[in-house]
Amino acid sequence: MKLSDFSSSAFFENPYPVYERVREAGPLVYMGPTLALTASYALVEALLLDRRMVKQPIATVRERYGEMATHEPVFEAFSKMFASMNPPAHTRLRTLLTKAFTARGLEPIERLAQDVADRLIDTFVGEADVDLVEHFAMPFPIEIICRLLDLPVGDGLTLGEASSAMLDALDVAPLTTLGLARANRATQQLQEYFRTVVQARRSRIGNDLISALIRAEAGGEVLTEDEIISNAMLLFTAGHETTSNMVCNALVALGRHPDQLSMLKSDLSLVPKAVDECMRLETSVQAISRVAMESLVVGDLHISEGTIVFMLLGGANRDPARFSFPDRLDIRRADAGKLSFGGGIHYCLGARLAHTELSVALRAILTRMPELRLEDRSPPIWKQRGNLRGVEKFPVGPGRIR
Ligand code: HEM
Repeated sequence: MKLSDFSSSAFFENPYPVYERVREAGPLVYMGPTLALTASYALVEALLLDRRMVKQPIATVRERYGEMATHEPVFEAFSKMFASMNPPAHTRLRTLLTKAFTARGLEPIERLAQDVADRLIDTFVGEADVDLVEHFAMPFPIEIICRLLDLPVGDGLTLGEASSAMLDALDVAPLTTLGLARANRATQQLQEYFRTVVQARRSRIGNDLISALIRAEAGGEVLTEDEIISNAMLLFTAGHETTSNMVCNALVALGRHPDQLSMLKSDLSLVPKAVDECMRLETSVQAISRVAMESLVVGDLHISEGTIVFMLLGGANRDPARFSFPDRLDIRRADAGKLSFGGGIHYCLGARLAHTELSVALRAILTRMPELRLEDRSPPIWKQRGNLRGVEKFPVGPGRIR
């Protein structure tokens, strides 16, 4: 097994056979002296809870791209995001942002999501051919995260592509020189935009999440201008492509399991469980990583200090040791697990927001587009990337829209 197995077209189309090979090779598979992979649910769960496994994004860059690449703008920007930090810096920022998130409550978010979903669907009522990615899945979470960050939605839509190009650098397999240059340009574009926003926001602090980051600095903490900008970028980028990809991944999963789709259509109270199960089967965040800050023993595995472990969430989610018939969508499954949102201290900050958005989106699509044929579709065209899994397009035929 080679790292390039994670960047082939065949892998992008269907990564699950590769994950299966990883699992068959053992719970922890070494790709080099200090680089390992796991697709074992139990091991991923245990490592995410182990405080000796820490974030060190620069170490993972050094291992995969070489020392020179650690100064590339995209990797420097990632390392300033609080998602890349460890306690205590991580704890302080996470606590602050959790408060800012929960202060709004979920009910207004559900209403906001419902309004956005309805308005977007209204724009293509009566049209024969619509791409659901472009007209619904992409703008839907962008509008919502823009409201939370208090940004003009038009800006969010324009920056969507830059965000996507920057996140390409999260793939397990290294990008080509061209791909890396593209990710750097995108990072710089986002930095310039957010620098202007942060400067302007200082004179009109509000209840939004960017203001919350600025207020942390005002509290005498060491949050530099660059850190505020990087974390605003984190919230913007984490808040949309993850979710927009997941909207269509869920539709693909349901379309491939017509019995589950019809069960869901006839009982929409199953939507939240269906979201969990679709996320298990076809999650948009396929891999995350940690580094062992000291040598540790987990069960009968010994992991040496400095080992980088890529945790293949998409693989762990189909681990037969954890799930019966793991490749089958079963929206009544008692416990689809929560691994798609990670675990431990870095558990997705936007998990409840994303779950609400996805539930609203699925309900809206199933009720307002009742004749949409999800079954018998031509095979989806998957984006040519490994980590943020999603489809390029989701053409909707002449499905009647209410
Ligand atoms: C379906 C949608 C989503 C999925 C699958 C997802 C998945 C994840 C995962 C797996 C992690 C853990 C990363 C790690 O441990 O290395 C994470 C962290 C995070 N997510 Fe999400 N996410 C989604 C939506 C969102 C949304 C809507 C937001 C909103 C802003 C968000 C914000 C974050 C942040 C800030 C972190 C870092 C948390 C920390 O390090 O403490 N995510 N997400």
